[in-house]
Amino acid sequence: MNKIRKIGVFTSGGDSPGMNAAIRAVVRTAIFYNIEVLGIKRGYEGMINGEFMDMDRKSVANIIQRGGTILKTARSMAFLTPEGRKEAYDQLKGAEIDALIAIGGDGTFTGAKVFGEEYDFPILGLPGTIDNDLFGTDFTIGYDTSINTVTDAIDKIRDTAESHDRLFIVEVMGRDCGLIALRSGIGVGAESIMIPETKTDMAALMHRLEISRKDKSSKILIVAEGEGDSGGAFEIADKIKLKFPQYDTRVSILGHIQRGGKPTCMDRVLASRLAVAAVENLMTGRKGEMVGLIHGKIAFTPFDHAIKHHVEINKDLLKIVEILSL
Ligand code: F6P
Repeated sequence: MNKIRKIGVFTSGGDSPGMNAAIRAVVRTAIFYNIEVLGIKRGYEGMINGEFMDMDRKSVANIIQRGGTILKTARSMAFLTPEGRKEAYDQLKGAEIDALIAIGGDGTFTGAKVFGEEYDFPILGLPGTIDNDLFGTDFTIGYDTSINTVTDAIDKIRDTAESHDRLFIVEVMGRDCGLIALRSGIGVGAESIMIPETKTDMAALMHRLEISRKDKSSKILIVAEGEGDSGGAFEIADKIKLKFPQYDTRVSILGHIQRGGKPTCMDRVLASRLAVAAVENLMTGRKGEMVGLIHGKIAFTPFDHAIKHHVEINKDLLKIVEILSL
C-alpha cells in the first residue's frame, strides 16, 4: 500500500446543504494527518480541465454553515468518455494527487467506480444529495436540511390553505425517490403523498377525498416530482377540480429552494463524521466505496451497491401518513 501524500476533493452532481461542511472536514482532517489537499473545482469537469486550488486550514474557515459548495459543481459529459477520463487522470498525476474524495450522488459514484477501476485510483465517496436515495447510509448529506426546508415551506402554504379553505397539491423534489415527500408529508400532516416507489391509485385518492372530513378546511397533498403514474401535480389538480369543483384547488412547485440554505446541525455533524472517516480510511488503503452511517455507525458500501441497490420505502411511515390524515 502506497502512502497517501495528496488528496483531491470535489463535489459533483446536484449541490446539497452540508457539502461545505464535508469539504471543510476533509481538508482539516487531511492537514491533521500531514496530508496535502487540493480542491478540484466543478467536479469531473474541473478535473479534466485541471481546475485545482490549494486548500489550507483557513480556506475552509467560516463555511460550515453555508449551503451550496465552495468548490462548485457540475455534471460532466466528457468524463463519460474514456478520452475524458484519460485527460482527468493525466491532470491528477500532473498535480501529484494520489487519492480522491468524491462528494455527490449516484452519477458521481458511477464516475468514481469506472475511473477508480480503470486507473486503479484510490477513491472514497461521501453521500451528498438531498434525495437520500443511496444504499448504504441511513441519511445522505443534505436530506435533513431539505426536509426541514420543505416542512417550513408547506407550513406556510398551510396558513393560506386554512385561511382560504383550499386544497393544495405541493410538488417536492425526488426524481426517482419519494423520501423527501414521505418524511415531510408526515412532518406537515399531509392528507396524502404520491411517490415514485408506489403506484398512485387515483381512484383511491378520489375516494379518500370523498370520505374525508367535510369540516376540514385545508388539504395538502404532496407529490414527488418523479411520481409517474398520475402525470404530475397539474394533472392531479385537473382531475380533482373535475370531480370536486367545490374545492379551491391550487398547485405549488417548491423547486430548487429545497436544495439551498444553511445546513441543519444534523447535516453538519453527518458531513463532518463521514469526511473524517473517509480521510482516515483512505490512509489505511480503503477505496472504491461510499462512506455512510448505518444505525449510527460508520459503514462502507462498494460504489456499485450504493448506486444500484434500491432504497426501500419504509412501509410503516407510509401507513403513518394514512392513519394520521383522518
Ligand atoms: O439529485 C437531486 C435533485 O434535487 C433531484 O431530486 C432533482 O430531480 C434534481 O436534482 C434536479 O436537478 P437540476 O438542478 O439539474 O434541475
